Amino acid sequence: MIQQSLVLIKPEAVKRGIVGEILNRFERANLKIVGAKLIVPTRELAERHYEKDDEWKIKIGKIRLEDAEKHNLDIMDLYGTTEPIEIGALVNKANHDYLVSGPVLAFVLEGVNAVQKIRVLVGPTFANEAPAGTIRGDYSSESSYTSVVRKRTVFNIIHASGNEPEAKFEISLWFKPEEIISYRRVHEDLYGY
Ligand code: PPS
Repeated sequence: MIQQSLVLIKPEAVKRGIVGEILNRFERANLKIVGAKLIVPTRELAERHYEKDDEWKIKIGKIRLEDAEKHNLDIMDLYGTTEPIEIGALVNKANHDYLVSGPVLAFVLEGVNAVQKIRVLVGPTFANEAPAGTIRGDYSSESSYTSVVRKRTVFNIIHASGNEPEAKFEISLWFKPEEIISYRRVHEDLYGY
């Protein structure tokens, strides 16, 4: 099934100068770039991209509490609260802060089962748990400890849409329809897509 998905190379990775290496990983896996732009997102765009409900905030707040306990960190001292929803809200704001902190390369990739394929190439959220060969595993060492103790979100190089409805929503958020370009890549004729 041919799908499109949104990918963001986050400010940290743009500033490190690894954009080319990351794009190469997708291109060589037969994922076609059909839209691309380098922008410093507005706060409104960042808030709409990571627009999280109370359920998400509570879930993430509880994870932060567990992480803090595991590492003997005083969550009250760090965050001024022990309420999961309030901690989750701080993480959500940290997600926005991270995205607006510099240039982001936003692009749309198209290919066979692109949404899932891209998530596999990207690897899990925390880079210290990401296998070698994944983008996060190869280019980052961020762990839950570093993000909790520094009161920031996870510095994990890249974002990729989680499922097809999310991909459709995120593409429409970052791109106008006329910014998506239709063309053929050689592998499509070779493999008969
Ligand atoms: S994901 O991909 O399933 O983790 O995405 P989601 O649940 O929608 O989470 C949105 C972003 O929140 C970040 N995140 C976290 N930050 C801090 N602590 C914890 N435990 C945590 N879990 C998730 C994560 O980086 C998601 O952004 P992206 O850009 O998708 O990585």
